[in-house]
Amino acid sequence: MTKVLIDCDPGHDDATAILYAARHLDLVGISTVYGNQSVDKTTRNALSLTTLLGLDVPVARGCEQPLNRVFSHGGDVHGETGIDGAELPAPVSEPVDMHAVDFIIEMASKHRGELVLCPIGPFTNVAMALRKEPRLKQWLRAISVMGGTTQIGNTTPVAEFNVWSDPEAAVVVFGSGLPLWMVGLNVTRQVGIDEQDILKLESGGNVARTYGGLFRFFRDSLRKVHGLSTASMHDACALVPFIAPDLITYRDCPVEVEVGEGLTRGMTVCDFRTLTSAKLENIRGQAAPNCKVAVEVQARAVVDHIV
Ligand code: BDR
Ligand code: CA
Repeated sequence: MTKVLIDCDPGHDDATAILYAARHLDLVGISTVYGNQSVDKTTRNALSLTTLLGLDVPVARGCEQPLNRVFSHGGDVHGETGIDGAELPAPVSEPVDMHAVDFIIEMASKHRGELVLCPIGPFTNVAMALRKEPRLKQWLRAISVMGGTTQIGNTTPVAEFNVWSDPEAAVVVFGSGLPLWMVGLNVTRQVGIDEQDILKLESGGNVARTYGGLFRFFRDSLRKVHGLSTASMHDACALVPFIAPDLITYRDCPVEVEVGEGLTRGMTVCDFRTLTSAKLENIRGQAAPNCKVAVEVQARAVVDHIV
């Protein structure tokens, strides 16, 4: 069974990813980062979720700021707690006594060649870990991110939230040389939980009802802020290649992240051209693929699987 470590900022769709991984994969750890809310709140949420789900999985608290700027989280989509919409239990455990950056390194060392690292919040912890311990490049099996987009963004017209939050960190991840999978908004926005799904969950047991409440809040938020009609299960999509690989199609592609201060900061530039010559004049050359980029999804099947 694939071993996975989730680096996250729960977050409604992060909560789904945690449950989805716990049910289908060997979830060896959870590390937290600022993002959907402060790292204090996302860490508490991660611990409340492991309590709700009865998971004996270590949680490590991580970075509270991006690499080189001050972050302010709005709480507009995920609410004041970072996971509004349901009463989560008070945590019965504490975070491990180790920073998330060191925790990622330790788990990668312990599970050499086996561990898939799954960043589904801003990539700051992961970039710091890659910088601190270059042997991660030998130790990790792969990195599978939720982040970026091949089309429109959600935080700016072209940038997705996780990448936009710390583009410099994203550059480190996309430049890592590790086998890399990217599922972005172009796919994840199609994977939407609708009213029927929410009603089904709300009529279930304790965990299902809790998630039903979370998704109702998230769906309503996304409707208010982004004009969407469903609750996008962005983060769980990053696990799909290791659970139900036929449901999302990935294509090898060179991806670069824009770190300039202009309009396109945080854009994931995916080069889908099929240039036959690197020497064409007046045409920017094409780099070698560094990533598998999600291009198609059987959205209803993924939603059904998650529900
Ligand atoms: C990403 O941003 C957050 O709101 C979600 O948890 C997801 O990781 C989508 O852009
Ligand atoms: Ca997230």
